[in-house]
Amino acid sequence: MAARTLRLGAFMRPVSIHTGAWRYPGAYPDANFNFSHLKRFAQRLEQARFDAFFMADHLAVLNMPLNALMRSHTVTSFEPFTLLSALAGATERIGLVATASTTFDQPCHVARRFASLDHLSGGRAGWNIVTTSNPDAALNFGLTEHVEHDERYRRAREFYDVVTGLWDSFADDAFVRDVEAGISSLSVVLGCDASRFDPDAPLPEIPPTNAGQSGRERAIELARREGLTVRQLAQRLGGFGGLAFVGTPRTIADQMEEWLVQNGCDGFNIMFPYLPGGLDDFVDRVVPELQRRGLFRREYEGSTLRENLGLARPANRFFPERAAPR
Ligand SMILES: Cc1cc2nc3c(=O)[nH]c(=O)nc-3n(C[C@H](O)[C@H](O)[C@H](O)COP(=O)(O)O)c2cc1C
Repeated sequence: MAARTLRLGAFMRPVSIHTGAWRYPGAYPDANFNFSHLKRFAQRLEQARFDAFFMADHLAVLNMPLNALMRSHTVTSFEPFTLLSALAGATERIGLVATASTTFDQPCHVARRFASLDHLSGGRAGWNIVTTSNPDAALNFGLTEHVEHDERYRRAREFYDVVTGLWDSFADDAFVRDVEAGISSLSVVLGCDASRFDPDAPLPEIPPTNAGQSGRERAIELARREGLTVRQLAQRLGGFGGLAFVGTPRTIADQMEEWLVQNGCDGFNIMFPYLPGGLDDFVDRVVPELQRRGLFRREYEGSTLRENLGLARPANRFFPERAAPR
């Protein structure tokens, strides 16, 4: 090997750089929005040992004359984090560089998205930091004018400090994963620090809070009604304080059936009390009982969420006459 070796990134938005590239024989006119092509490109680049799949991004349709836009495949593309998260599952080693603008986003959002992409991809996320040069982007974010150039760069420097500060705000061993964390759940429900309360005394007066109110009121009412100590309340609220079905597969199916038959609901968003056992129990025991009663499907009806929920596609309010054939 040479003393110094190259780094190679693939600038993949637009997927090909010439405005008329989609007209080239064998080109894919829809490549910007065709995941199977994008996946193949990423896999080919990984086989060639590229450092990174680099996903540029623009927060508005490119500011070209309309006639040129209509003839271009570069108008817009997938949102980078969504695409790169999908590519993370289709690749193993190649870096995944997303563009994020310091002008129109919030540092907390950006820090979180990159941290998520980095964990999802096993440490392969990278950030193309931009301040967004296209003035049309401002209109998409409720502004009438683009943020002034030097102000964008001043904000970018501070933004970078905040994002990297947020990443550093968790030590590597920050997640204690304390199995005795019932009091933490109680603090969340009550909107105040319950660890200061005497666990064996009745619940003290809880000051008003601007956090969620209904769960807090339910918890306080439960403690007062049943004369619970703080510890007992924490044990009761360790999970979810709302509607809970407890029993055998048959009695749980009975309750679900009753809600459905009485038109109390269309279905349920199931919260499993613990994992993986709670999920496995539900899938292995309750689902077959619901299927046996004909209350739940054995096969998906379609391939989209809308088809499986039995919903019609709403008309496009701007182009009702141009609906794609179904
Ligand atoms: C490699 C490279 C990638 C870039 N990617 C983007 C991008 O994804 N989105 C964007 O709005 N600007 C992108 N830019 C533009 C820069 O953010 C910047 O606006 C441009 O370099 C002009 O700089 P100036 O504002 O100081 O004149 C990119 C520039 C370079 C060199």
